[in-house]
Amino acid sequence: MASWNTLLRKKPVNISMLEAKGEKKRALSRSMGALDLTALGVGAIIGTGIFVLTGVAAATYAGPAVILSFIISGIAAGLAALCYAELSAMVPVAGSAYSYAYASLGEIVAWLIGWNLVLEYLVAAGAVSVGWSSYFADLLRSAGIHIPGAFALSPFEGGIINIPAVLITLIVTWIAVRGTKDSAKATKFIVLVKLLVILLFILVGAFRVNPGNWTPFAPFGVSGIMQGAAIVFFAYIGFDAVATAAEEVRNPKRDLPLGIVSSLVISTVLYILVAGILTGMINYTRLNTPSPIAAALLSTGIRWATSFVSIGALAGLTSVLIAVIFAQSRIFFAMARDGLLPPVFAVIHKKYETPYIDTLLVGTAISLIGAFFPVGIIAEMANIGTLSALTVVSLGVIILRRTQPDAERPFKVPWTPYLPILSVIFCVYLMLNLPLATWIRFVVWMAIGIAIYYFYSAKHSVLASSDESRAGVVLDNLVPFAARRKTKHLMPKKAR
Ligand code: ALA
Repeated sequence: MASWNTLLRKKPVNISMLEAKGEKKRALSRSMGALDLTALGVGAIIGTGIFVLTGVAAATYAGPAVILSFIISGIAAGLAALCYAELSAMVPVAGSAYSYAYASLGEIVAWLIGWNLVLEYLVAAGAVSVGWSSYFADLLRSAGIHIPGAFALSPFEGGIINIPAVLITLIVTWIAVRGTKDSAKATKFIVLVKLLVILLFILVGAFRVNPGNWTPFAPFGVSGIMQGAAIVFFAYIGFDAVATAAEEVRNPKRDLPLGIVSSLVISTVLYILVAGILTGMINYTRLNTPSPIAAALLSTGIRWATSFVSIGALAGLTSVLIAVIFAQSRIFFAMARDGLLPPVFAVIHKKYETPYIDTLLVGTAISLIGAFFPVGIIAEMANIGTLSALTVVSLGVIILRRTQPDAERPFKVPWTPYLPILSVIFCVYLMLNLPLATWIRFVVWMAIGIAIYYFYSAKHSVLASSDESRAGVVLDNLVPFAARRKTKHLMPKKAR
C-alpha cells in the first residue's frame, strides 16, 4: 500500500522540478495574449448549456425561474473562477486544477482531480458533439435533407451511431493537432459568429416577449431552481480552460486572471438575457426540445432567424469542442510530464509544438462517447467531475495561503478565506443536487482512478525517486518519441 508520504507528496510551486531540469526544451510555444484567452474562454463556455440544456432545465426543473438557476450557478462559477485566477497566475503551468492540487494538496488528490477533469473536458466534449449533431440535423432538415435517425442518434435513443458527432470531433481534433496559433485564430472567428447570433436572438426575441409566460415563475419551487442550477452549471464549464493554456501565454500573470474573469462575465450576462427572453417568448412547458432557441423563434413566427441561429449554434458548439480538446490534451501532457501517465503522453510535435498524441487520443475517445451516448447522462457526469475539481481548487487557495504565505501572487482572491469557503459550499451544494445515478457513476469512476494510481502512477511518479536526476531521465526517455514523430504516421503499425 502506498504510504502517506507517497500520497501526500507535493510538487514545488514556483519552478517545477522538471523546468529546473532543462524543461525549456520541451516547453510549449508562448503565443497567446489576453484577447486570445478571452476568446478561448468564451469559446469554451457558451455552447450546449445555453443552446440545448436551457430548454430541458426550464421545462422539467425550474420553469421561467431557470433565470435564477443560471444566476446561482453563475455565482458558483464566478467564485471558483476567482480561485482559479489566483492559482493560475501563481502556478502558470499547463494542467490547471491538477497542477494546483499537486502543489497544495499532494499527489493523490492531484491525480484524482486530473482524473475528474477527464469528466469535465473529455466527457463534456462528448455532450457537445451530440448537441452539434442535433442542430446540424435540424439545419439540414430545414434545407430538405433528412439524416436517418439510425445514423444521427445514439443506441440509447433508438439509433445505431451518431455519425455527425463523430465527424465534427475528428475535424476539430485535426485543427487542435495543427497548433495553438491556428486553433486560436479559428476560435476567435467562430466565437465572433456565435456572439453575433446570440445577440441577434436577444434583439429579435426581446420584441416577442409575452410577460404572461413568466407566470408562474417558479412552478417547481426552490428545489426545482436548485436542481436546475445543478444542470445548467454545464453552461459554465470551460472558464478554466483558459488556465490550462498557462504555458502558452505571453504574460500569464496579468492575462490569465483577465481572461478567466472577463470570459465568465460576458457569458453570464448573455445567459441571463437568453434565459429570460426564451422563457418570455414561449411557455416553459413547450421548451423540452434539443433546440429550444430555434423552437422559440419558430413559435413566434420568425422563420428567417431560425437558420441563422442554427448556424450560430453549430459555430458555438464547434468552438467549445476546440477549447475542450485543447484543455484535455494539456492536462494529460502535464500529468505525463510528472510521470503519472505513460511518457508517450508528454511527446510534443516538433513542427506544430502541440501534445499531438494526447490530442489524437482525446479526439478518438470523444468520438466514441459522442457516437454512442445521449447528451443528458454525459452532461451530468461532466458537472459532477467539474464541481469536484472546483472544490479542490478553492480549498487549494486557502491551503496555499497558509503553507506558502510568501509566494508571489499577482492576483489575490479578495476576502480570503471567506470567498473560497463560499465557493466550496456552492460547489458541494450543486453536486448534492445532482441525481443519485450520477453519484453512483461518479463513485465507480473514482474507484477506477484510484486503481490506476495505485498500480501505475504512484510507482512512476517523477517524485517517486529520491534521486532527483530521475526527472531528467524521464525526459531523456521522451526524446526518441519526439524524434520519431515526423515519420511515425507513415510507418506500418507494427513498426511504430
Ligand atoms: N459550457 C460548455 C457548453 O455549454 C461546456 O457547451
